[in-house]
Amino acid sequence: MNETQFHTVTIAGATGNLGFHITNAFLKQGCYNVNVLRKKPENNNEKADLLASKGAKIVYANYDDKNDLIKAIKGTDVIVSAINGDYYNNQIMLLTAAQEAGVKRFIPSEFGSELPQGLEPHPVIASKYKLREALETSGLEYTYIFNGIFYEFLKTFGFDAKNKKATFYVNDDAKIRIISLADAGRYIAESLKIPEARNGIIRVGLTLTLNELLQKFEEVSGCKWEVIEDKDVQHRFKNKIEPIPPLIDDFKAFISNNAVHHDVDNDKFSFTPLSITEFLNSSIKC
Ligand SMILES: NC(=O)c1ccc[n+]([C@@H]2O[C@H](COP(=O)([O-])OP(=O)(O)OC[C@H]3O[C@@H](n4cnc5c(N)ncnc54)[C@H](OP(=O)(O)O)[C@@H]3O)[C@@H](O)[C@H]2O)c1
Repeated sequence: MNETQFHTVTIAGATGNLGFHITNAFLKQGCYNVNVLRKKPENNNEKADLLASKGAKIVYANYDDKNDLIKAIKGTDVIVSAINGDYYNNQIMLLTAAQEAGVKRFIPSEFGSELPQGLEPHPVIASKYKLREALETSGLEYTYIFNGIFYEFLKTFGFDAKNKKATFYVNDDAKIRIISLADAGRYIAESLKIPEARNGIIRVGLTLTLNELLQKFEEVSGCKWEVIEDKDVQHRFKNKIEPIPPLIDDFKAFISNNAVHHDVDNDKFSFTPLSITEFLNSSIKC
């Protein structure tokens, strides 16, 4: 792998589910100054304390105040944003500040499944698309990282290990891409050394069918699971058929129905991701 041209990295959202692992991965690389950007007001946070104890510098800013953000990110080569919520409004000022502060690359808060070009975005992620438009005309380098679903979030996507129950929104031969949070963090950090990541897409993770994934869960938990097929969620949501599914279920069905799984870039990186079986062996209590 190439040496990176970047020296100072600022991670926004580093106290979150993913941001913590991204920051850890940058710290482990040992070749970066690692800053953690937190939103004001200052408050105690165990993850921030842990990252600081490993060498991260914690800086605070008001995300609505461009000058405050510029001050906080001064000297940064790369911003990795792992914030959540309204992806446009929570990141646009940071992007504007990054342009003015001379940041070279901005990795926006994507980190989900890849969807086909031209497909109208689901409301849950429409603000990610809006931010992409601003990013691509900003003059900054960017990378979109598509990692599929995190192992740690598979329950949300229908794999309920506690109750041995799987809910499928599509046929069980549909594909799903998955990865652990820790490995996603490593791929994101290492992407700075991958030439294809400059103004490009990096796809990482393991791809299997829903049925294959179910078999892994069944093998590790040592029993057959109940399977619930809930394939008309989007139809019920769109046509307001009672009981109307929640927006988030419509989103899950949207992702299950539309995610595309182009070849992954895993082999451009220095490591092999943790398998789902290894993950389940250490996380499922039978
Ligand atoms: N593929 C998957 O399975 C999957 C699952 C979950 C998430 N994701 C994606 O991963 C990304 C990160 O999600 P997450 O679950 O890790 O996030 P999270 O844990 O909810 O929060 C991330 C951090 O963002 C900061 N933050 C919160 N609100 C903010 C605001 N209004 N402005 C600025 N910063 C704010 C907070 O840090 P401070 O308080 O320290 O500033 C928070 O700890 C998102 O793009 C999300 O869509 C993907």
